[in-house]
Amino acid sequence: MTAASRTRPRVAIVGAGPAGAFAAASLLRACGDVEIDLLERLPTPWGLLRGGVAPDHQEIKRLEDTFDRQTLKRGCRFLGNVEVGADISHAELMSHYGAVIYATGAQTDKSLGIPGEDLPGSWAATEFVAWYNGHPDFRDLEFDLSARRAVVIGNGNVAADVTRMLTLSAAELARTDVADHALQALRESSIEEVVVLGRRGPAQAAFTSAELRELGHLDGVDLRVDAADVELDGVSQQWLAQEGTFTARTNVELLREFGARPRRADAERRIVLRFLRSPRLIGGDGRVESIDVRRNEIVRADDGMLRARPVDDEDRETIDCGLVLRSVGYRAVPLPDVPFDERSFVLPNARGRVLGSDREPLPGVYAVGWIKRGPTGILGTNKRDAEETVTCFAEDLAAGKLAQPANADREQIDALLAERKPDIVTVAGWRAIARHELEAGRRERRPRVKLTSRAELLDVARRAAPVPAAAHS
Ligand SMILES: Cc1cc2nc3c(=O)[nH]c(=O)nc-3n(C[C@H](O)[C@H](O)[C@H](O)COP(=O)(O)OP(=O)(O)OC[C@H]3O[C@@H](n4cnc5c(N)ncnc54)[C@H](O)[C@@H]3O)c2cc1C
Ligand SMILES: NC(=O)c1ccc[n+]([C@@H]2O[C@H](COP(=O)([O-])OP(=O)(O)OC[C@H]3O[C@@H](n4cnc5c(N)ncnc54)[C@H](OP(=O)(O)O)[C@@H]3O)[C@@H](O)[C@H]2O)c1
Repeated sequence: MTAASRTRPRVAIVGAGPAGAFAAASLLRACGDVEIDLLERLPTPWGLLRGGVAPDHQEIKRLEDTFDRQTLKRGCRFLGNVEVGADISHAELMSHYGAVIYATGAQTDKSLGIPGEDLPGSWAATEFVAWYNGHPDFRDLEFDLSARRAVVIGNGNVAADVTRMLTLSAAELARTDVADHALQALRESSIEEVVVLGRRGPAQAAFTSAELRELGHLDGVDLRVDAADVELDGVSQQWLAQEGTFTARTNVELLREFGARPRRADAERRIVLRFLRSPRLIGGDGRVESIDVRRNEIVRADDGMLRARPVDDEDRETIDCGLVLRSVGYRAVPLPDVPFDERSFVLPNARGRVLGSDREPLPGVYAVGWIKRGPTGILGTNKRDAEETVTCFAEDLAAGKLAQPANADREQIDALLAERKPDIVTVAGWRAIARHELEAGRRERRPRVKLTSRAELLDVARRAAPVPAAAHS
């Protein structure tokens, strides 16, 4: 037996989002006697469950109760307001824990690379989402919602989310936990029409069917799809018949149904779904005034994938608009001193074991969630993914492959963090924040009223739960 297998293993999970939470729960199930610290750069846990999932989807947010029950209530420590790579290094973590599991997600957006992308009024959907969900780093953004038309680029579920947020009525928004600053701005919004652009066709849209269906059933919103736009081209027809997924078939049926609907002239707002259109440039004098799009056709590429190809380079349509939300995917950022695959934007890994430059596993370093496999997949996808990583960890532990860290005692990491981060947020601090938000929510008949500034969050956490050095649990 090695030293590591004789003592209770101590594991740091970096990032307390869904993947980190599923990994912690899975570790407790698989290994039982393991000490887990969840290190999180925000003062609050649960990553995109709090800061991504749309405020009008409160039923999904209940997953936080499960995370709480399966992790924090089972002894995992929450060490919030600690950014790994800034407040503590990878090497320091490795010297305090037997294993480090990275669960840092995808913290930025994928860019389009077209002219005008950076004009004021052109935003990444990642920014808009973080703003309306009260992420402290995005609360001061100012979205100009004074134009009549907005354009959303992309056909994924995030595009569906931001489209709904722009078209929900003020009364509907007021029943959610949308951040107060966003509630106020959206209440005063002049946007009447949201045009959603898919670069490929209806059969290739990345919406899940429930999210697409929902767009067609919003109160006071007319969903428009041109019937001709949902006529499938030959390549897509063949693909749908022979290889099409259940979701793709359902989406096409839904879109045909929407295309056949009569227009609702009385609706206050409109969503217009357009397909086979790619943005060429975002135009405007000092700020967004329009977007130029080109028409595509679907072709089967050499690798067998169905791709969008421009029909005619001269083909151009200009859509006037005052706001563009680019919803073409999230992207992970590298962590200092941790290997990073610059082409796939993930930690290079084999089933969750992070690989070094020699493509061999780095002992004791693992990845889970979006930083492991890229920014796709719903919440549940991270559960299976976490189980895979935890299986590797358990195998390595049993095989004696995890080194005993130089500073193995919990008091040592607590002393280091107490010195570096006197305003660390513990489980008690997070519970104080949650209590504060839920009580404010009860007063306003809302699920919660979020605290959105770091200073407020830290203040509530500190007042309710002063942190004596070396006593973080
Ligand atoms: C806008 C949006 C809405 C979504 N809605 C749904 C939905 O309704 N239903 C559904 O099933 N799925 C939904 N998803 C997908 C789901 O949110 C993801 O599958 C899931 O959040 C990925 O989990 P993760 O833990 O890998 O990443 P994240 O949720 O991003 O968590 C990563 C965590 O790591 C922290 N972190 C990052 N860097 C550091 C660092 N250096 N040090 C310490 N901490 C760090 C971050 O602050 C964050 O808390 C949505 C996704 C998005 C983008
Ligand atoms: N309610 C929910 O369950 C929910 C809500 C939000 C998010 N999520 C999940 O979170 C994950 C991330 O969602 P997402 O919407 O960010 O990503 P996504 O599902 O990957 O969708 C990205 C969209 O952007 C398009 N796109 C990419 N590059 C483009 C370009 N250069 N020009 C034009 N369009 C481009 C893609 O088109 P192509 O297909 O042609 O590449 C696709 O339509 C997904 O798995 C999603 O299901 C789930």
